[in-house]
Amino acid sequence: MIRLAIQKSGRLSEDSLSLIRECGIGFLSSTFKLKTEATNFPLEILFLRDDDIPGYVQDGVADLGIVGQNVLVEAGLMPLEVEPLGFSKCRLSLAVPRGQAYDSVNDLQGKNIATSYPQLLGSYLAERGVQAHLHTISGSVEIAPSIGLADAICDIVSSGSTLLGNGLREVETVFRSEAVLIANQNLSAEKQELLDQLRFRMQAVRRARR
Ligand code: PRP
Ligand code: MG
Ligand code: ZN
Repeated sequence: MIRLAIQKSGRLSEDSLSLIRECGIGFLSSTFKLKTEATNFPLEILFLRDDDIPGYVQDGVADLGIVGQNVLVEAGLMPLEVEPLGFSKCRLSLAVPRGQAYDSVNDLQGKNIATSYPQLLGSYLAERGVQAHLHTISGSVEIAPSIGLADAICDIVSSGSTLLGNGLREVETVFRSEAVLIANQNLSAEKQELLDQLRFRMQAVRRARR
């Protein structure tokens, strides 16, 4: 039996479940159950906060995970990636209040920036010689400028509607991301065999979608 962690609710949840189903794996899911077993493959699915998934896979609590590269790189655990999945494409972007003038990233010098991605943003700014105060918050980052918590934000943008709905304008792309399959690096031979079977099926699903 191999354990796969996926996002409980959010941008990746539906696409992760569809991928598993398209791989021919059947399972019952209900909104309140955070763990389920597949009916026709030795697979257990855990429903977790996406930010927690890289750490759980690194520690072997879960054998496999489906996460955005944004979360994986922020956690500093890139070596866990085994397969790009081609869905949930998004970008990590800097945004400022719509009415605020903005010419270049230098305008952020000395400013307060709210983000859930201090590592990715920190290295982006450092490479450009910009020193800013980063305020790490775990969610609803887009609200920060309107409540006086920050001058700018750096968060995930997909359709752009969250920025629009909060009076923000996207000004820089910091990182581009898609969903990836990650795996613990010390899988037993038996689990490695199951991973190979899953990757084979996932690759076939991707080819069929093109
Ligand atoms: C991101 C971000 C916004 C939303 C933006 O959240 O924090 O809430 O997506 O999408 P939009 O441009 O289509 O409006 P994410 O799904 O990564 O969830 P999480 O931060 O709760 O993990
Ligand atoms: Mg998250
Ligand atoms: Zn500060």
